[in-house]
Amino acid sequence: MSKMWSGRFREPLDPGFESWQRSFPFDVRLLPQEVAASKAHAHAIAAAGILTQAELATMLDGLDGVIPFALEECGGAKLDAASASAIAALHPEAEDIHHFVELTLTKIVGDLALKLHTGRSRNEQIATDMRLFVRDAIDATLAGLLDWREALAEQARGAGDAAMPSYTHLQRAEPVLVAHWLLAYVSMLERDFTRLTDCRARLNLCPLGSGAIAGATLKLDRTIATKALGFDAPTSNSMDATSDRDFAVEFTQALATLGLHISRFAEELTLHSTAEFGFLDLPEKFSTGSSAMPQKKNPDLTELIRGKAGRLQGAAVTLATIVKGLPLAYNKDLQEGQEPVFDAADTIAGILAVLPAFTRSLRFRADVMKSAAEKGYLNAMAAATYLTHKGVPFRKAHEKIGNAVRLGLETGRELNELTLDELRAFGEEFGADFFDAITLEATLDCHDVAGGTARAQVRDALKGASARIATDRASLASIESLKAAAFEKRGAEHAASV
Ligand code: ARG
Repeated sequence: MSKMWSGRFREPLDPGFESWQRSFPFDVRLLPQEVAASKAHAHAIAAAGILTQAELATMLDGLDGVIPFALEECGGAKLDAASASAIAALHPEAEDIHHFVELTLTKIVGDLALKLHTGRSRNEQIATDMRLFVRDAIDATLAGLLDWREALAEQARGAGDAAMPSYTHLQRAEPVLVAHWLLAYVSMLERDFTRLTDCRARLNLCPLGSGAIAGATLKLDRTIATKALGFDAPTSNSMDATSDRDFAVEFTQALATLGLHISRFAEELTLHSTAEFGFLDLPEKFSTGSSAMPQKKNPDLTELIRGKAGRLQGAAVTLATIVKGLPLAYNKDLQEGQEPVFDAADTIAGILAVLPAFTRSLRFRADVMKSAAEKGYLNAMAAATYLTHKGVPFRKAHEKIGNAVRLGLETGRELNELTLDELRAFGEEFGADFFDAITLEATLDCHDVAGGTARAQVRDALKGASARIATDRASLASIESLKAAAFEKRGAEHAASV
């Protein structure tokens, strides 16, 4: 009777197949979620008359004892990645996390443990555990994202009015404020933040009570488990609830998109730190040397992040590929969808553990950036705009400034080094005030639209970004306190993810 399903079988499992199909080596990390969901279910079946109040109390104590019991067995002090793998290694008899908790609970409370599975199925359990896991992973990612947004905003604040070239086609385009460039990433991260928040809101429903596929075989009050786990409501269809992994697909896809942003940032810094650009010195504490070339300082952090972003894409594709084409409802294929979720959660946690500190340690070479912004006719569009204010149609203004640029190229001069007489040869509209209209400051400030790089606009944008960081920080804090309140005090110390 050590298996959860051996009754109808006469032959033992092929040992190779048995060990190969187990998920305990990786779903052991769902131990806190499985315990929490089991306690919630215990409350629900007690209310349905399956457990007496005394049995419920014993069951809850026993469930609270599962993690300490498992830690004691493996000699671990707390539940972390190392002790989780030690627990898995110690228990080759456990098929999966559900089986393991049942076996351990039986050691603690005896046969009463076997009542816990009344009115539930592993299909709804794994769906519940995964929702809880993804919810925690989202909350951790949101906190890391906020930290990175804050680091970028700090750099933007510190950059003041420093300017740099912007690029289209990787060719210098127009000058922008360094702060404007940094805030571009903050805008991306704000979208990532809302994508993850939306995903969290959609996933926060409780599958418990869905049974194996058709709904529990007991008339359970599903709101009991829902409340105990901090979900907003029970799921509405048992077939969907037991086979749905949309929340995991959305989560990995949101991380894949976040990965694109992180990777673009990493690529820009990798490029900007080359001798060819020289826009920044790589911080030594986040760089590595070469074992062969003594002079080297390599951007390993940004390169590794670029690589890990590929891994985030991979997780999203793996998961979607597993779910695609599965008939309703539960299929064992879904077990294979756990690891990409874990891997994506670990990958983003690792990235966000270093990226904010790396970002804070960046020191830009404002002088190099500025002189790059002042060379190569990056003020040509501002110059053409000057002519439009004198009534010249833009198409014609473009042509006249094009001629001036051509003269500059031929004689090795910037637009502000041409004489007024030379300019007037291209158009009588040029006046002495032309030179004031094409300074670096004027070139920046002529982009005086919301979202533009004029200095006043960027100051406003920075204020807006900071205010949104504060709002998001407050909403994250309230999410955390709601979640903490939902879990019972006892055992709450184990509620964090492994
Ligand atoms: N280990 C399984 C999984 O991760 C749990 C659900 C098993 N259900 C079943 N009917 N075999 O998907």
